[in-house]
Amino acid sequence: MAENTLMEKLVSLAKRRGFVFQSSEIYGGLGSVWDYGPLGVELKKNVKDRWWRAMVHARDDIEGLDAAILMHPRVWEASGHVAGFTDPLVDCKQCKNRFRADDKRIKGTPGQPDAQCPVCGSKGTLTEPRLFNLMFKTFMGPVEEQAAVVYLRPETAQGIYVNYQNVLNSSRQRVPFGIAQIGKAFRNEITPGNFIFRTREFEQMEMQFFVKPGTDMEWFERWREWRMEWHRSIGLTPTKLRWHAHGPGELAHYAKAAYDIEYEFPFGWQEIEGVHNRTDFDLGRHQEYSGKKLEYFDQAANERYLPYIVETSAGADRVTLTLMADAYREETVEGETRVVLGFDPGIAPIKAGVFPLVKKDGMAELADRIYHDLKRQFPVFYDDSGAIGRRYRRMDEAGTPFCITVDGDTQAGQTVTVRARDTMTQERVAIDQLAEYIGSRIRGS
Ligand code: GAP
Repeated sequence: MAENTLMEKLVSLAKRRGFVFQSSEIYGGLGSVWDYGPLGVELKKNVKDRWWRAMVHARDDIEGLDAAILMHPRVWEASGHVAGFTDPLVDCKQCKNRFRADDKRIKGTPGQPDAQCPVCGSKGTLTEPRLFNLMFKTFMGPVEEQAAVVYLRPETAQGIYVNYQNVLNSSRQRVPFGIAQIGKAFRNEITPGNFIFRTREFEQMEMQFFVKPGTDMEWFERWREWRMEWHRSIGLTPTKLRWHAHGPGELAHYAKAAYDIEYEFPFGWQEIEGVHNRTDFDLGRHQEYSGKKLEYFDQAANERYLPYIVETSAGADRVTLTLMADAYREETVEGETRVVLGFDPGIAPIKAGVFPLVKKDGMAELADRIYHDLKRQFPVFYDDSGAIGRRYRRMDEAGTPFCITVDGDTQAGQTVTVRARDTMTQERVAIDQLAEYIGSRIRGS
């Protein structure tokens, strides 16, 4: 399948089946902002639930947090975002378009007569690069003045750093320990794109692990291993995952070491998660800017220090896109194309479709009862319209791993057929075993 065709097909399937819609579509859409439909919201919620389970519920050494999006503006001075979270941009004085200075389409040197605008083609109309801050600004309170400026957070991490002592004092944690958070972040990206890969509003799943200086690289290596394992555990193809080490020129201002987990998308290998050794940069800066002591006192060793931080930072939207791209396949079955999202059953938005073979002989009533019974435990979908083959195909496109059909033999034997999405094989299962049948298969994944 041609690479960009796959992305086009994914975008179209996402809309058709209710995964992702363009924001404000009836008004012509809003640039690179997307809304999640009924199936998309379930899929993304499963991603976040799996992350939360692995990071918070399954461990004794990590606590959860939900900090506000708006924070004191000094936070962003301390973090380095006011001064350094910038991209160099150039403007075309002729057509008024704005580009990143490193836009590969620009010929010549911006600011010089030889530079050519990639949109209108004019020569010598591009300005010298100017720094543009990627943070969204707004005003707090009724007066729009400089003193009232607040920012929409560009990363969730800072909410964790400023709460680190609150969490320590209110929990039983001791260093080494972590704080995990899932929440929205906003960046006024200059070149967003590739569907939900790079957007201006997105969700991050971030964890900051506080460790004793000197043990940071050991923890960094452990976290690298655990995070890669998590991506495999949600069903991503292992050969499409790899590490990218940041070289000295690539490291963020806060990082001593950084690795990205990359996935091979149709548009190339791209980052889906970063693991960073942020040293004591963040706590040091917040200590300096707030004037509050943020040192940790280790009672057993009778020593004080500023913990180092190992960060794991993944995008919930990006992982959702990764799952969709990884799961998409087309097969030819009896001369027709079958489109399947082959999600791992634990990640699939709907766990089972429930159908009466025909709407007579009490089949619809029985199917409806099974549907309502299962619905108490799993997201399931009832469908009695159209030929059974078409109902299977709709569930294949939604990534539903099982389809349960009530047929002419159900009444007598109290059994139904269960059709597996991937193999399309069917087996008969007792009605009273259905919940266990589905439950064991989604728990196992
Ligand atoms: N706190 C560290 C941090 O924010 P980052 O590499 O800038 O690091 C971490 O972002 C993750 O957040 C990325 O790996 C990606 O999954 C996600 N992310 C970042 N910018 C994004 C955007 N514009 N749209 C969607 N996801 C984004």
